[in-house]
Amino acid sequence: MIDILSPFGDGFGFSLKLLSDYDEVKLYPEEVGLISPKAVQKRKIEFYLGRAAAHSALSEINIYEFPVLKGTNNEPVWPKGVVGAISHSGGMAIAAATGKDKAAGIGVDIELVDRKLSEDIIKEVCTFKEAAWVNMNPNQKVERLIMVFSAKESAFKAFFPIANIFLNYLDAELFWNEDIGTFSGRLLKSAGGDYEEGYMFEVGCRIIDKYIFTYMKLPPIGNG
Ligand SMILES: CC(C)(COP(=O)(O)OP(=O)(O)OC[C@H]1O[C@@H](n2cnc3c(N)ncnc32)[C@H](O)[C@@H]1OP(=O)(O)O)[C@@H](O)C(=O)NCCC(=O)NCCS
Repeated sequence: MIDILSPFGDGFGFSLKLLSDYDEVKLYPEEVGLISPKAVQKRKIEFYLGRAAAHSALSEINIYEFPVLKGTNNEPVWPKGVVGAISHSGGMAIAAATGKDKAAGIGVDIELVDRKLSEDIIKEVCTFKEAAWVNMNPNQKVERLIMVFSAKESAFKAFFPIANIFLNYLDAELFWNEDIGTFSGRLLKSAGGDYEEGYMFEVGCRIIDKYIFTYMKLPPIGNG
């Protein structure tokens, strides 16, 4: 059974929910109303597991009984003063949450490594330099492509709620640090707030079983 330990420190909630947890999941009626009755079963399960992971992450920072609703751009709406992120893939979900005194934004993403992934997406996801790194070793190409893709999804989730600015995949560039197993990222477009073009950030990456897990946190601003 897969397990993912929190990559964050004290004061951060982090939770993983698996398909085996599904029967136990209880959502608030407001949350149930967010998912279309016509949604396919896979989407319903992942949505439920994502919300359950969010509740559990919130409970780790002592926030209980908070329905996690949805903003106008599908982003999860966290309690005032809290930032967080949700991801689901391959029948599991993860969520992380913390107070703004600990982070100005959080991103998490999980992707099942799918060997059938079309390589055409390299052009959409990767800058020229990232594509060179992805293509360096044919045996690692799919894995590296998903690492870049996932790290950018994590970055999107951390930056988007700050100013509701949509960053495309080519609006940030990542550089892999082999020694420490993290990406160093640089914004190629402003994400709003203090995050101007050229802003540098870090995205962690772990390969766990058949999954790629990426995560990031933005340092807190002022007193949070
Ligand atoms: C929204 C997006 C990030 C979701 O990522 P995904 O890998 O497809 O799916 P995941 O399961 O990891 O994440 C889905 C969750 O993301 C969250 N999410 C959706 N829109 C979001 C937004 N605008 N901001 C923050 N979080 C968002 C939701 O919680 C969603 O789950 P839910 O619908 O059950 O609540 C992705 O589809 C997307 O649109 N990306 C934009 C382009 C991008 O990533 N650019 C990179 C810039 S560096």
